[in-house]
Amino acid sequence: MSVATLAPSTDELAALTPEDFVGLLRAELTKPGCGMADHPIVGAMEDGSVTVPQLVLFCEQFYLHISRMLPWIGAIYVNCPFEDVRTTLVKNLAEECMGIETGTKAHPELLLEWGAALGGDTDAMRTAEQLPAGRRLTEYFEFMGLCRDWCVPLAAIGIGLESFVPDTFTRIVAAQKQNYGMSEEDLIFWTMHILADAEHGDEGIEIVSEYARTPEQRDAVYHCTLETGRLFYDMWNVYRTVPA
Ligand SMILES: [Fe+2]
Repeated sequence: MSVATLAPSTDELAALTPEDFVGLLRAELTKPGCGMADHPIVGAMEDGSVTVPQLVLFCEQFYLHISRMLPWIGAIYVNCPFEDVRTTLVKNLAEECMGIETGTKAHPELLLEWGAALGGDTDAMRTAEQLPAGRRLTEYFEFMGLCRDWCVPLAAIGIGLESFVPDTFTRIVAAQKQNYGMSEEDLIFWTMHILADAEHGDEGIEIVSEYARTPEQRDAVYHCTLETGRLFYDMWNVYRTVPA
């Protein structure tokens, strides 16, 4: 193993400014095999090489993950000692579970609507078996929610996933219109997250500077966010199990 592949030490991570810490994490998350940034399925949508059956499986497994991961936001709520953060979590959950703020629907349901527009059977997607890659990711949120400080899963979502959403989902929306005949209506799940996560802006830096203050918390945020990114990459990669 070369020195360059070694993770920074706890002390090195603790010495970074919140901006540099988040910048380092984001750089790691854009490497091959990690996170959603430039994930192969995005390029495959853009060149039209991912097939509709592959997209339906991708939709199904992404749906199963997000619908089963949302309860673990509740674990963050229970463990968070800051009332203002808890209030934000309740609002986020109400939007995720009912679409209250945007006047839409539960976000997992919006994802299924895209699957239906592709020709997928929504009842079958709802009751499908969650494949091992998806289970590992969902269960990692269970682990973080129950076994790590509340700020760890929050950072993993904010830095590891949401901060890459505007760029990634913008590419997906364009490719879905161009190559798969999708309308604005079919793509509400993707478009609404572009706006929502662009508004969240520097939330990751705020989480780190306000709440992940000890060296141990910094260390846990670093490693758990990267692991979330790796597991997310693998979950999005399940489309390859359907022959092209
Ligand atoms: Fe959402």
